[in-house]
Amino acid sequence: MKNTAIWYRHFGVPEQTLKLETAPMGLLTPDLMRVRMLLSPVNASDLIPVTGAYGHRVKPPLVAGYEGVGQVISAPESWSHLVGKRVLPLCGQGTWQSFVDCPSEFAIPVPDWIDSDLAARAYINPVAAMMMLRLYAPEGKHVLLTAAGSDCGLLLGQWALRLGALSVTGIHRSAAHASRLAACGITSVSLEDVVAISRFASGSDLVFDATGGELATSILQQLPESSTFISYGLLSGNPFKQQHPRPVVRWFHIRNYLNSWNSQQWHSLFSEIWSLLNTSMYSDSVRYPLYSWKEAICFYRESGRTGKPLLVMN
Ligand SMILES: NC(=O)c1ccc[n+]([C@@H]2O[C@H](COP(=O)([O-])OP(=O)(O)OC[C@H]3O[C@@H](n4cnc5c(N)ncnc54)[C@H](OP(=O)(O)O)[C@@H]3O)[C@@H](O)[C@H]2O)c1
Repeated sequence: MKNTAIWYRHFGVPEQTLKLETAPMGLLTPDLMRVRMLLSPVNASDLIPVTGAYGHRVKPPLVAGYEGVGQVISAPESWSHLVGKRVLPLCGQGTWQSFVDCPSEFAIPVPDWIDSDLAARAYINPVAAMMMLRLYAPEGKHVLLTAAGSDCGLLLGQWALRLGALSVTGIHRSAAHASRLAACGITSVSLEDVVAISRFASGSDLVFDATGGELATSILQQLPESSTFISYGLLSGNPFKQQHPRPVVRWFHIRNYLNSWNSQQWHSLFSEIWSLLNTSMYSDSVRYPLYSWKEAICFYRESGRTGKPLLVMN
């Protein structure tokens, strides 16, 4: 049996560094299950490590991709009931490949009522959004989001409202996101409207920021001292400056929780995520065959897209 995978063997620009390679599959270790991957999205979280931004802990050669959905084709006896079922192979290898071997207890079964395009994107952004809202409760607060048209931003906004936020305001770069945000009950503000941004920032209790750079720096200058600013991404590619000890700034990264959670905790988290996701607005999916991965990344980089590129593995 052969496996086709997108590897990076050194750091660099993803489009120039990633390579599609086919090689014979190794034998399956007895405690692992083998999953034939169906779909895997292209997220910022997949591309940033290829650039070397996390070089202190991510060491190539590696297969790219952090999430996706697949079908179990082989499992240890005690997990044989999952053969033929769809799962999210957590804690396995990179997901941009035809087959992933993962620890059986970390394979999260996908309910029949969740379609594969949604299941493929049920991990990184939903889990990050849910964990941040558990750490920084939005109830009774005015919430401000940056990169609000992103998948993570959309979920943060909708779920903050369900959890009792007084208001959610979302700053977006492309006007394409305004109507979607409004449909979710999120007040949309253009990145160019500095007056409105300043006004909303000065009335915010909680900020979830994925852009960093100038926008984050200017929001921090306007925020009340009592508010909390959570940085969870640097889409601008630039850090922000914190000029005063207050408001409080916190950093969030999902990787800080991955190793401390046991399999029961993951299964219980997903039992909540499936129904929440199924009733939330999320971006559309746009499918690309695995061999068209460069086109998928090119689409990923388009400003104003309202779809998430998904690699089709078979
Ligand atoms: N810390 C964690 O554990 C964690 C977990 C999950 C996600 N994240 C972060 O969350 C962010 C969003 O990820 P995602 O997968 O949800 O993204 P996504 O759905 O692929 O959307 C990304 C959107 O970000 C906007 N954007 C890109 N560069 C921008 C900039 N310089 N200024 C303003 N907006 C910009 C673009 O909006 P336009 O269309 O308006 O240009 C783009 O559509 C990323 O930074 C990712 O690393 C972090």
